[in-house]
Amino acid sequence: MHRPLEWKDIGPLTDIPVQGARRVDHREGRIAVFRTIDDQVFALRDECPHKKGPLSEGIVHGHAVTCPLHNWVIDLATGFAQGPDEGCTGRIPARLVDGRVELGLVV
Ligand code: FES
Repeated sequence: MHRPLEWKDIGPLTDIPVQGARRVDHREGRIAVFRTIDDQVFALRDECPHKKGPLSEGIVHGHAVTCPLHNWVIDLATGFAQGPDEGCTGRIPARLVDGRVELGLVV
């Protein structure tokens, strides 16, 4: 069954460092919210598909993040590992509204 989403305001874009991330705790798990150098926002489950490393502590480059544990590179738009590595972490809808970040969370 499809579960409805509700857009939740998590604060201004400026609360997230450029090419950085902040972590949001949600009842279904931790979410990593990323800000890219071109001021786009993306959100993924804060768990690397390799061994659950905290992607919110990784290095953001382009529209990807490098996991701090073993350097897998995860595509921010899809959650898929890039290159020879295989795996995917959950993607959470994210959008910018008047300079504020909203996440599409399951109600
Ligand atoms: S846990 Fe992320 S690369 Fe190993």
